[in-house]
Amino acid sequence: MQYRKTEVLVIDPVHPDQANIEHAAVLLRAGEVVVFPTETVYGLGADALKASAVERIFAAKGRPFNDPLIVHIPDEAALEQLTSSIPIQARQLAQVFWPGPLTLILPRSPLVPGLVTAGLETVAIRMPRHPVALALIRAVGSPIAAPSANRFMHISPTTAQHALADLNGRIPLILDAGPCEVGIESTVLDLCSPVPTILRPGGISFEALRTVLSEVQPPPQRVGTTLAVDREKNRSPGQLLTHYAPTVPLLLFDGATEGMRAAMLEEVQRRLEQGERVGVLVADEDVAPFLENGAVVLSLGDAAAPEKLAETLFARLRSLEEANVQVILSRSFDERGIGLAIRDRLLKAAGGKVFRSC
Ligand code: TXA
Ligand code: MG
Repeated sequence: MQYRKTEVLVIDPVHPDQANIEHAAVLLRAGEVVVFPTETVYGLGADALKASAVERIFAAKGRPFNDPLIVHIPDEAALEQLTSSIPIQARQLAQVFWPGPLTLILPRSPLVPGLVTAGLETVAIRMPRHPVALALIRAVGSPIAAPSANRFMHISPTTAQHALADLNGRIPLILDAGPCEVGIESTVLDLCSPVPTILRPGGISFEALRTVLSEVQPPPQRVGTTLAVDREKNRSPGQLLTHYAPTVPLLLFDGATEGMRAAMLEEVQRRLEQGERVGVLVADEDVAPFLENGAVVLSLGDAAAPEKLAETLFARLRSLEEANVQVILSRSFDERGIGLAIRDRLLKAAGGKVFRSC
């Protein structure tokens, strides 16, 4: 799908201008795709009940058809038409966390096109809390299917500029409401498995879900490898890792802060000496020692403020890509609260492997 130009329309994030909303809604009603802000990341939306419109999402992103989409709704009443039954747990969770960054996997109704659910008997549903998203879904008068508005396998966009960088010329319109508040995608919770289980950690923490549903299970342990940093042999960790899916390989370091920092510094130094262009992702407290050696050093913020770390993570990863580094070395962070989602995204970027300093 080629468009001569992708229009970027600035819109107030708190009190969206109705004329701008209507401009986007006209496109969506006509079966087009539109990028719009949510509180988590920007989404690439289409009318969820029109298969031909949903097909355009996959085309614009280059996403395979076997990856199902989240359907965004404006109110709980919309659950009726999209599901074949609504478990009591869904009602309990919706009451506390909707609108917000929680996606529920529910039994689908036949009204939902198979393209949206990738042929599954379940459907992913969430009610976003961003005023622009809610106003848009209401104006369209139909639920909106939307994945993150990035090219397939790339980092989710937390600004309109990120979405434009990935989708320019492939979509007609982006609504630009500034940076996303949460910065990391919604938590996906499976309510169709025997025990409610987190499939993807995200904006609503495991601990918060447990306060409402004590039986909620954390995401299944990632099959990953922990690699000890072998300083004596000065082994190159990069050679043992799979590639960072987007464009730059990422090496994730773990362990107590001091040891982790020392291992990272050593590896940074070694790579710089080999003439590599190295990117470093750390917290404010780690920055100083890295500044002296010529690496591109970016901080996610105060390590003790996980919400802030989550908000900046994807933007920093994109900045490092744009700085043309050949490798990114990242520290890891506390796993509590939204920290679990941060770790999940860093682990994915690292191909599931972690260097644990002892
Ligand atoms: O915060 C978010 O969730 C953002 C915004 C735009 O709402 N959307 C988002 O969508 O991250 P996407 O497509 O990038 O990720 C959706 C995730 C995928 O991991 C997909 O496999 C999973 O939800 N998913 C969708 N439908 C599912 C289903 N029926 N069963 C299991 N997983 C499903
Ligand atoms: Mg995505």
